[in-house]
Amino acid sequence: MKALVLSGGAGTRLRPLTYTGAKQLVPVANKPILFYVIENIVAAGIRDIGIVIAPETGKEVKDRVGDGSRWGVDINYFLQEKPLGLAHAVLVAKDYLEEGPFLMYLGDNLIGSRVTTEVKEFANREDLAASIFLKQVPNPKSFGVAVIDEDGRVIDLVEKPEVPPSDLALVGIYLFRPVIFDAIANIKPSKRGELEITDAISWLIKNGYNVQSHRVESWWLDTGKKDDLLLANDTVMDEWLQTDIRGVVDSGSRITGRVVVEEGAHLEQSVVRGPAIIGAGSHLVKATIGPFTAIGPDVRIEQSTVEHCVIMEGCVIQNIPRLEHSVLGRRVHVRPTPRNQESLCLMVGDDCVVEIGR
Ligand code: G1P
Repeated sequence: MKALVLSGGAGTRLRPLTYTGAKQLVPVANKPILFYVIENIVAAGIRDIGIVIAPETGKEVKDRVGDGSRWGVDINYFLQEKPLGLAHAVLVAKDYLEEGPFLMYLGDNLIGSRVTTEVKEFANREDLAASIFLKQVPNPKSFGVAVIDEDGRVIDLVEKPEVPPSDLALVGIYLFRPVIFDAIANIKPSKRGELEITDAISWLIKNGYNVQSHRVESWWLDTGKKDDLLLANDTVMDEWLQTDIRGVVDSGSRITGRVVVEEGAHLEQSVVRGPAIIGAGSHLVKATIGPFTAIGPDVRIEQSTVEHCVIMEGCVIQNIPRLEHSVLGRRVHVRPTPRNQESLCLMVGDDCVVEIGR
């Protein structure tokens, strides 16, 4: 079986981070979300992966992911010129996919479980045209929503309904047989002007094809916004982080709980409380870090306390008594102003949010 990963889209909800990078490459516990997606596909035994990319971020995605050799798989790229919908993205890779069943996975979705069993089952169930993954959510209006019968068979599907017919959201993971291409050929763009994969699956149901569903029992994180991203970090570090100290920790420093200190990182008279990760080449001096904090590569933190944060590559934090619940993009500097103590002195780009303690 092949897999198709969708890695386009504008990522408007994650601005400003997505002005300068792909949302699928935003790090969770110092690893791009997209890498977790690829790892899950590889764990299911799939060796051929197509990735749909957008003109704006395609090069960055290709540069980071490469040809798949790092995972022992073969990766091909397909350019979607315009964001015309998930079903349109599938069409872009039609020649690559049309000979057999395939797994489709949205590149910004993280789940806490493998999909191996479902993939194997689908490969053997030729009677199934599609199979979808569902999760009960408190806010179904924001997603595709499914109605299923007692055997898990899907009887209705709607994209972002005003009045949700159930609380079962479509997780961005799907299994299809090539008949999906007939479905896509028969649907029209939605109100938001996109060819919706949800509408294509609905077409299958209405035309008598068998569509099955699976419940995701573990967590599912849609890394759409700042708080979602922090939650994704918390969850991944809480569940998967294993202590691994490769950098230098001086005798004046203290580490408690599960902590990763990557190669070339240096801790001087600092305290790190796990779960936390300190990226390669980062330097901490008299810093207190964590819990639930991911420090990216080449970050410098001096005389500061940083808790429950995602700090990306190349940031510098100096003399800050307490930074918490924050996401800093690459190369951000945070330090006291040399001016009047009461003043704030900012140089921030578009769509940034600055919250000041009172
Ligand atoms: C897409 C799908 C939706 C699904 C969601 C999962 O929505 O259209 O059915 O529930 O992904 O993340 P979008 O992210 O395009 O708004």
